[in-house]
Amino acid sequence: MRLLLAPMQGLCDDVMRDLLTRIGGYDECVSEFVRITHTVHSRATWLKYMPEIVNGNRTFAGTPCTVQLLGSDAGRMAVNALEAVRFGAGKIDLNFGCPAPTVNKHKGGAVLLKEPELIHQIVKTLRIRLPEYIPLTGKMRLGFENTDLALACAAAIAEGGASGLTVHARTKVEGYEPPAHWDWVRKIRDAVPIPVTANGDVFTLEDYLAIKEVSGCNSVMLGRGAVIRPDLARQIKQYERGEEVKETDFAEIAGWINLFFDLCAAKEAHNKYPVARLKQWLGMMKKEFPQAQELFERVRTAKEADEVKKVLQAFEKEQEKN
Ligand SMILES: Cc1cc2nc3c(=O)[nH]c(=O)nc-3n(C[C@H](O)[C@H](O)[C@H](O)COP(=O)(O)O)c2cc1C
Repeated sequence: MRLLLAPMQGLCDDVMRDLLTRIGGYDECVSEFVRITHTVHSRATWLKYMPEIVNGNRTFAGTPCTVQLLGSDAGRMAVNALEAVRFGAGKIDLNFGCPAPTVNKHKGGAVLLKEPELIHQIVKTLRIRLPEYIPLTGKMRLGFENTDLALACAAAIAEGGASGLTVHARTKVEGYEPPAHWDWVRKIRDAVPIPVTANGDVFTLEDYLAIKEVSGCNSVMLGRGAVIRPDLARQIKQYERGEEVKETDFAEIAGWINLFFDLCAAKEAHNKYPVARLKQWLGMMKKEFPQAQELFERVRTAKEADEVKKVLQAFEKEQEKN
């Protein structure tokens, strides 16, 4: 089985990918989407979205990373994809699922699910222009307003020449509301000849077992659950290897929080980035861990990185003693 870390713009940047793949369990991860409009992106832009490119397209822990493109102009997307490859990208994924109104207004992301022919043209153009050795994959939702075109869109991606397809089992209008329709992933898996990865609402090991069962897929992508439960992939891998499944404790998570903060500070020390990213992560983890809520309260009003770091260090020590 394969476990993928989902692309999540504004949430799963290179630092989060670094941390989560160090914790372990992932076979692959995907960058935040790189939007393709009328410009041809520079090397600096590709590296901003996916610094893993200079590390052989791998995170620090060695997990392969794919760059994701979002756009609707096949020609421009192909030019940009080729540039990404020229600068070192080793695999390209295409986004057909982003629900953001500004993105959709510019004909990118989920709005393309209304036009399977255009999806086909984009995938085919990129497949023809990219060197054969560069894998090309796609990621889709089930549709825009409804699932009427789900199979047509999946077929368009497969027939366009993609070698893999991830299905986020919701329509655009469903946003991120549960439930995800895992049965639809099975319908798509049964209909297309390429490997399908199931995605949507996997927050626990039990959810993982259920999505596998219902979708019939042996490849699963974890999104928000990966951030809320940073050891989720590790638990799943332990289970799949027939090992004892050991849930982490908050003492270990406190260590990861400190590491995450240090990695954020190493990337951008002199602005709000480290503190903002920390608060964002704690804000998500507090749904699962009361200790995250407590730590969130302690750093809530802090603005300076030095001040936050002291709180984090003290907190980690306390957790070790508990
Ligand atoms: C904050 C956020 C940002 C996202 N950004 C992207 C993105 O850049 N590209 C993409 O294909 N999907 C993106 N997604 C969708 C996820 O990859 C995934 O399909 C979705 O969250 C469902 O999985 P989950 O229920 O496990 O979270 C994003 C989701 C979230 C919550």
